[in-house]
Amino acid sequence: MTERVLWITGGGSGMGAASARSAAANGWSVILSGRRVEQLERVAADIVAAGGRADVLPLDVQDSAAIVTARDTLLARHGRIDALVHAAGCNAPNRRWDDQTIDAFRAIVDTNLTAVAAVIDAALPSLRESSGVAVVISSYAGWTFQPGAGVAYSASKTALGSLVRTLNQQEAPQGVRATHLCPGDVATDFLEQRPQVPGESARAAMLSPEDIARTVDFVIDAPQHVRVDEMVLSPLSQR
Ligand SMILES: NC(=O)c1ccc[n+]([C@@H]2O[C@H](COP(=O)([O-])OP(=O)(O)OC[C@H]3O[C@@H](n4cnc5c(N)ncnc54)[C@H](OP(=O)(O)O)[C@@H]3O)[C@@H](O)[C@H]2O)c1
Repeated sequence: MTERVLWITGGGSGMGAASARSAAANGWSVILSGRRVEQLERVAADIVAAGGRADVLPLDVQDSAAIVTARDTLLARHGRIDALVHAAGCNAPNRRWDDQTIDAFRAIVDTNLTAVAAVIDAALPSLRESSGVAVVISSYAGWTFQPGAGVAYSASKTALGSLVRTLNQQEAPQGVRATHLCPGDVATDFLEQRPQVPGESARAAMLSPEDIARTVDFVIDAPQHVRVDEMVLSPLSQR
């Protein structure tokens, strides 16, 4: 059977890592990108130990030239891209108009929005060839207004809905599909970036990274004529 190749940004932790483990268990070759090499290698080693296929491609998604180089390395090693999961993202504790800085705003928008466009742009010729799928991990705050999510985070994640819609509108004729995946609270390291970091009991009520991985599996393993435009997943307690 032809190798099916999945490129995951933010693959070293949280939802990206959980999606990698799950997809690899379903036969995908997973290519893990992120800045912390040791995190990527730990996830890859677990996958290989479980009998799956994983490769590590360190990358800072704020660096557009590095994205193109990573794409070229991926294609040299694996020859194709069938799916993309964009999980890399960031926020900051100082996220309000009265405490944010414009430099921090720019870094959040670069990571959460511009980098998603840049990775999709780099992968698009391959996705056209494979009739591939891009899963953009956005946020509940990208689906509806969330007062606590922050100025830059809300703006960047909301824009991902438009990004996915333009992609589907323009690239569906070439066979490319994209999903705007909007999770509510998920118990990951991401919570450390909140002004008030939730404790254990709050985390216990949240979604798990594995809940998101199951959803990603559904999207990437759907038949090629099935396009999942948008999905919103929330824990029962989401407000
Ligand atoms: N947890 C939540 O409640 C929640 C809810 C809705 C949406 N989300 C979104 O879900 C996505 C995944 O987050 P998570 O909750 O799984 O948290 P996480 O474990 O902190 O994952 C974020 C990932 O992004 C990577 N990353 C950040 N900046 C990067 C950069 N410049 N270049 C490359 N990789 C970068 C990080 O890796 P390195 O630091 O190693 O680069 C990390 O692996 C994010 O986009 C987040 O906005 C989270």
